[in-house]
Amino acid sequence: MSSTVTSKIVETRVYDDQKPGTSGLRKAVKVFMQEHYTENFVQATLQALGDQLPGCTLVVGGDGRYYGKEAVEKIIRIAAANGVRKLMIGQHGILSTPAVSTIIRKYKTRGGIVLTASHNPGGPDADFGIKFNCENGGPAPDHVTNKIYEITKLLKNYKIAPDVNVDIDELQNTTIQVDGNPFTVQVIDSVNDYLEHMKSIFDFSSIKTLLQGSNNRPPFKVLINGMNGVTGPYIRRIFSDELGVDDSSVVNATPLEDFGGLHPDPNLTYAKDLVNAVKNGPHDFGAAFDGDGDRNMILGKKAFFVTPSDSLAVLAANLSSIPYFRKTGVKGYARSMPTGAAVDRVAAKNGVKLYEVPTGWKYFGNLMDAGQLSLCGEESFGTGSDHIREKDGIWACLAWLSVIASLGKSVEEILLNHWHTYGRNFFTRYDYENCDAEAANKMMQQLESEIQKPEFLGSRLTSEGKTYVVKLGDNYSYVDPVDGSKASKQGLRILFEDGSRIIYRLSGTGSSGATIRLYVDSYEDDEAVLNKDAQEILKPLVTIALEVSKLREFTGRDAPTVIT
Ligand code: G6P
Ligand code: ZN
Repeated sequence: MSSTVTSKIVETRVYDDQKPGTSGLRKAVKVFMQEHYTENFVQATLQALGDQLPGCTLVVGGDGRYYGKEAVEKIIRIAAANGVRKLMIGQHGILSTPAVSTIIRKYKTRGGIVLTASHNPGGPDADFGIKFNCENGGPAPDHVTNKIYEITKLLKNYKIAPDVNVDIDELQNTTIQVDGNPFTVQVIDSVNDYLEHMKSIFDFSSIKTLLQGSNNRPPFKVLINGMNGVTGPYIRRIFSDELGVDDSSVVNATPLEDFGGLHPDPNLTYAKDLVNAVKNGPHDFGAAFDGDGDRNMILGKKAFFVTPSDSLAVLAANLSSIPYFRKTGVKGYARSMPTGAAVDRVAAKNGVKLYEVPTGWKYFGNLMDAGQLSLCGEESFGTGSDHIREKDGIWACLAWLSVIASLGKSVEEILLNHWHTYGRNFFTRYDYENCDAEAANKMMQQLESEIQKPEFLGSRLTSEGKTYVVKLGDNYSYVDPVDGSKASKQGLRILFEDGSRIIYRLSGTGSSGATIRLYVDSYEDDEAVLNKDAQEILKPLVTIALEVSKLREFTGRDAPTVIT
């Protein structure tokens, strides 16, 4: 490649479906492959940076899914033509979402572009996604994604430097002149910065002692499953190289373009192979991560399942096991609205402020930037802290191992002790995936008007001899305490007098049809029921939830696709 190239302007056509969802623009690969489609969105994303675009540095990387490398190539050429000064790109185009956030913050770049559809399947017939993260390392807030969308609707052309060719498989620094201005691509190791960050947060030597065993404790056997997603190189470096875990305990650790046909979402349905392996194996602990490495699932011996809502609460109660929090102190806890309220009880007991925010990691970022939040989590298998501005699967796993190392107890014992101290918020989520969108919308509309009728307040809903009295029915809205911005229509809530809750949301991350999520949360402090099965305890509320919403009638679905 010559070291001097010129850019050109390409006339394009508008695509009117480029509105970013909960986590960026997420569509079928085939949609992104349409002529100009990806180029348009990248151009709009850059243009939304306004006068901060010329001369800026951006991070680029993704979860290794199909079409990722093509997208990186397009981004390089479009960024070059738009006056970007430098791109820092993960080798082979690979960077986990938490790694992108880490690198943006560490090198103080203007932001980053993450190529992922997170936990959605990958491959030519599956999904792709493009997400912009801001200079705080977090997903772009609504006002930025709205701006990108507005630009896509009016876009007439995009700028591209088609002669720029950079080999992203080689660690290297390349600088060329584009229209007379220097443009640098730095291909960086995908893992180094992230690993260094984890080492500064956790006490690796105490985790290593736990895993290897010591005079008075046998080795603590773990099974770490990358689900063929981006975490492969990270878990190899961290668990095999640094913590000395043997190779057979780190599985599905090579990123594959189609995730080996897996649906890379760490839950009881899609991570069944981990669940079965831990159920039938000698392991004390299992963890799996999603395609882009920000979600996690934690299991104890015999596949004892830790719900994400409980996981958050247990970590909240034990943050002092982690050196990072001993240094920074605990500024606040937060959870998304549908997340089980277990952490609220830890907050109340410890006198720590608790925030409830809408679904979507971006809502935590403002609180963290304002120094008000240390630890947060969501029922959707996301857990994280203010060490970055994304949720972080491997971080959650290391946090759990730190707590286990410090308490010297099994996962199950830790949970039982926790419930004994705080009581238990039983939680379940039912997902009805790929429903007819119109039917799902109708159901939500009808339900919204139903629960907002004056007579719904105070009404008594009964199932299997249990009666719940309605305290409030609404469509949740949120005012950000930091900047006053408002997010409305964030989910239908039915709150009961005893603190139980039923919540209905339409997923914002699907790529086809509609996914209805039903969340049920109920508190019990009766010792006799603490270790009962959540499905058993929550059955009456689930029945009520299905009846009030007429979900079966609207969708024709008898059973959910996934139960968590
Ligand atoms: C992504 C976001 C999470 C959010 C989740 C919700 O994973 O990063 O913050 O909780 O989407 O997904 P949903 O499909 O329920 O909209
Ligand atoms: Zn993800």
